Amino acid sequence: MPNTLVVQAHQATRLITLHRPHALNALTTELLGELADELQRCADDPDVRAVVITGSRKAFAAGADLNEMAERDLVGMLDDPRQGYWQRITQFPKPLIAAVNGYALGGGCELAMHADILIAGEDAQFGQPEINLGIMPGAGGTQRLLRAVGKSLAMQMVLAGESISARRALDAGLVSEITQPELTVERALQIAQRIAAKAPLAVRLAKEALLKAQDLDLASGLRFERHAFTLLAGTADRDEGIRAFQEKRQADFKGC
Ligand code: HXC
Repeated sequence: MPNTLVVQAHQATRLITLHRPHALNALTTELLGELADELQRCADDPDVRAVVITGSRKAFAAGADLNEMAERDLVGMLDDPRQGYWQRITQFPKPLIAAVNGYALGGGCELAMHADILIAGEDAQFGQPEINLGIMPGAGGTQRLLRAVGKSLAMQMVLAGESISARRALDAGLVSEITQPELTVERALQIAQRIAAKAPLAVRLAKEALLKAQDLDLASGLRFERHAFTLLAGTADRDEGIRAFQEKRQADFKGC
C-alpha cells in the first residue's frame, strides 16, 4: 500500500491522488517512487486503459520537497534515485490526464506536464519558481514548458519565476480545459473513460505518434504515423470498429 498516494479504480481507469496534504503534496523521493511503481502497475494491467493524476484542492503539488532537497549536495544529486523515477513516469505508455487544482509549482508543474492532457480548476496556478531558490527546473520544465507555451512566456516563467493563472495557461495552450475546481477530477475522469472505451492499441500508437511530433522533423514524424497506421490495419479491433459502424452499434474493442 502506498504511503503518499491514494489509488482508486473507476471502471477501466485509475485515479491516483497525491496525498501529502501537510506539505502541499511536495514531491519526496518516496512519493515519486510510489508514483513510478503505481504507473508501472497501471501499464502492466491490461484492464487499465487510462489514468488520471490529481492532488488536493489547494495544491496539485508545490514542487520538490525542499526539506529533502536541503539535505542533498551535488554528490547526492548525481546518483539521486529521483532521476530514475522521473524517467519511468515519462515512459508511461497509456493516456495520462492531470486534473490540476491550486498550486502546480516547480516539480509539480513538471509532473503535470508529463500528462498527455491537462485539465485545470479555475484557481490553478502554474509556475517554475526554482530560480528564486538559486536553481532551475530539472525534470523537463525548460523543455516541456517551452514546447507548451512558447518561448517568451516560458522564459518569463522560468527566468523571472512568475506563475500563471489557469486562464493564462488555457490561452497559452498548457491546459486544454478549465473547470470549476470541484469538477476538475470529474471532468478528467470523464475524458479518461471516453478514451478507455477506444481501441487500446490505436490509443497507444496515437499517443506515441503525437509525442513524436515534438521530437522529430515532419518527414520522420509522418513516416512514424504511416507505419503505426499500417500496423493498426492488421488488428481485430480495426475490423470490429468498422463492422460496428456498419451495423450501427457500439464497438467492443479487445486490444488486439
Ligand atoms: C516542502 C513545502 C513545500 C515544498 C510547501 N510546503 N511547499 N514543504 N517542500 N516545496 C509546506 C510548507 O513548508 C508548509 O509546511 C505547508 O507546506 C503549507 O505551505 P505554506 O507555505 O504555509 O502555504 P502558503 O502560505 O499557502 O504558500 C503556498 C506556496 C508556498 C506559495 C506554494 O508553500 C511555496 O512557495 N512553496 C514552495 C514552492 C516552490 O518553491 N517550489 C519549487 C520547489 S524546487 P509547515 O510545516 O510550515 O506548515 C523544485 C525543483 C524540482 O520543485 C526539480 C526536479 C528535478
